[in-house]
Amino acid sequence: MKPSVSISAVLLVALFGLAGTAVAELKSALRGAEDIPVTNAAPKLEKYINDKENIERNFEQQPPLVPHTTDKYTINLKENGCFECHLKQPGKDEAKSVEMSESHFVDRTGQKLDRPASNRHFCKLCHVPQIDAEPLVGSNFRSASTR
Ligand code: HEC
Ligand code: HEC
Repeated sequence: MKPSVSISAVLLVALFGLAGTAVAELKSALRGAEDIPVTNAAPKLEKYINDKENIERNFEQQPPLVPHTTDKYTINLKENGCFECHLKQPGKDEAKSVEMSESHFVDRTGQKLDRPASNRHFCKLCHVPQIDAEPLVGSNFRSASTR
C-alpha cells in the first residue's frame, strides 16, 4: 500500500469513529433516547390554565398571556368572542373583564378609532393561553421586574 492511501484510510476510520460517538451522545429533549425509527408514546395532554389570575409579564410591551382557555371563543371575520368580556359593550360603563388597552383602538396610520382596530382582530396572534407544564430545558431567565 502507498503511504498516502494508508494515511487516508486512517483518517477515514478516525472521522467515522468521531461521527459515531457524536450520534450516540445526541439526545433530544422532546424524543428522549428513542431511536429515530421507533414511534414513542405521545406526551400526556396537558390542561390549559383556567384560574383567571393574570400571569405576570416578563418584559415591557409584552402582550399579556391569557390566563384562561380560549377554545370556546370564536374569532372569524364576522364575530369575535373575546369582545364579549374585553370590550366595553354599548350602554355599559365597564367591560366585563380588563378592557383591551388604547393601543388596540388605533389603526396602522395612527388614527384613533371608536372600535378595535382590524389589525388587532385576531387576538391569538399575540395573546396565547398557557399550560402549566415543566419546561423541557432548564432556563435561568428572570423577568425584568425581578432583577
Ligand atoms: C367570559 C369572559 C371572557 C372572555 C369571553 C374572554 N376573556 Fe380574557 N379574561 C377574562 C377574565 C375574567 C380574565 C382575568 C381577570 C381580569 O384580568 O379581569 C381575563 C384575562 C385575559 C388576559 C390577561 C390580561 C392581563 O392584563 O394580564 C388576556 C390577554 C385575555 N384575557 C385575552 C382573551 C382573549 C384573546 C379572548 C378570546 C379568545 C378572551 N380573553 C376571552 C374573561 C374573558
Ligand atoms: C398585534 C398584537 C396584538 C393583538 C392582535 C391583540 N393584542 Fe392585546 N395586547 C397586545 C400588547 C402588546 C399588549 C400590552 C401593551 C398594551 O397594553 O398595549 C396588549 C394588551 C392587552 C390587554 C391588557 C390590557 C391592560 O390594560 O392590561 C388585553 C385585555 C388585551 N390586550 C386583549 C386583546 C384582545 C381581546 C384582542 C383581540 C380582539 C387583542 N388583545 C389583540 C398585543 C396585541
